[in-house]
Amino acid sequence: MTWWIHRGLRRALVPRGLNSSSPLLRPPAASSPYFSSLQSRSQENAAPESGIGGSTSSKTASFRSSLNPTEVAKFAAIAETWWDSQGPFKPLHLMNPTRVSFIRSTLCRHFRKDPFSVRPFEGLKIIDVGCGGGILSEPLARMGATVTGIDAVEKNIKIADIHAALDPLTSSIEYHCTTAEEVVKENKKFDAVISLEVIEHVADPADFCKSLAALTVPKGATIISTINRSMRSYATAIIAAEYLLNWLPKGTHQWSRFLTPEELVLILERAGVSVQEMAGFVYNPLTGDWTLSDDTSVNFIAFGTKRNE
Ligand SMILES: C[S@@+](CC[C@H](N)C(=O)[O-])C[C@H]1O[C@@H](n2cnc3c(N)ncnc32)[C@H](O)[C@@H]1O
Repeated sequence: MTWWIHRGLRRALVPRGLNSSSPLLRPPAASSPYFSSLQSRSQENAAPESGIGGSTSSKTASFRSSLNPTEVAKFAAIAETWWDSQGPFKPLHLMNPTRVSFIRSTLCRHFRKDPFSVRPFEGLKIIDVGCGGGILSEPLARMGATVTGIDAVEKNIKIADIHAALDPLTSSIEYHCTTAEEVVKENKKFDAVISLEVIEHVADPADFCKSLAALTVPKGATIISTINRSMRSYATAIIAAEYLLNWLPKGTHQWSRFLTPEELVLILERAGVSVQEMAGFVYNPLTGDWTLSDDTSVNFIAFGTKRNE
């Protein structure tokens, strides 16, 4: 292991068996079923050209457009509700403290920052890709990071901007309506690249990861959260959340677009990012709280480091 570990925090965060020597964090061979399922998905979702999200003529072999217009349209339709904690983004609001705690611990450990400081991310440049209304960008800025938030939906960016301006600690966030691959073209790099609950909505997850990796400085951090393609996620994230509890508009998620943790590890590895830690988020229906867990069967988050170029 090449990173420094605060053992107490690490025990709290890293699920048992999920460390760099875990089979889960070793990428599957190219001949594995994961590899072929990702390849066929890549062909199905041949990145469409779209006017959404700025000029996207990104047809270069390595950084193709991540836009899936159908997915982006779903978010444009509910953009006004970002900061309604009882609206369609209620699950993200409830999950936010838990995911922020994972990000705080992993980034502090990786960049040797004091996790007990009020502004531990002072000096770090972070990009939040697919930032929506800024639910994550704002706490990152409050913890001292220089934050750029980008999203494919113009309305999201306007709402994020208005909301961030309400607090002097977040008013410095730079929001732009664009995509990761467009920022790559500007040759910008960040200490940490974070993209939460976005990869299941992009045209091609492997291309998207290549863009995220390209935005990350060598030895920098890439963090992704998403939903596992498991039977449990079908029952909870789709049937329960969309049809029984009406937390999300019906059709928000397509189960077949979800990635398993193994698939995410593989495509990040191929993009030049080695996953070091992974954790699950588990919802307690009695308390309404989310906690970090070894259980990655539904929601999970992965922290990786960019290999030297
Ligand atoms: C489920 S929301 C997650 C928002 C935010 N990351 C969070 O977790 O609070 C997904 C967001 O990704 C954005 N999005 C979808 N495809 C995108 C793409 N190709 N590039 C940038 N943003 C995208 C959507 O507009 C939406 O705001």
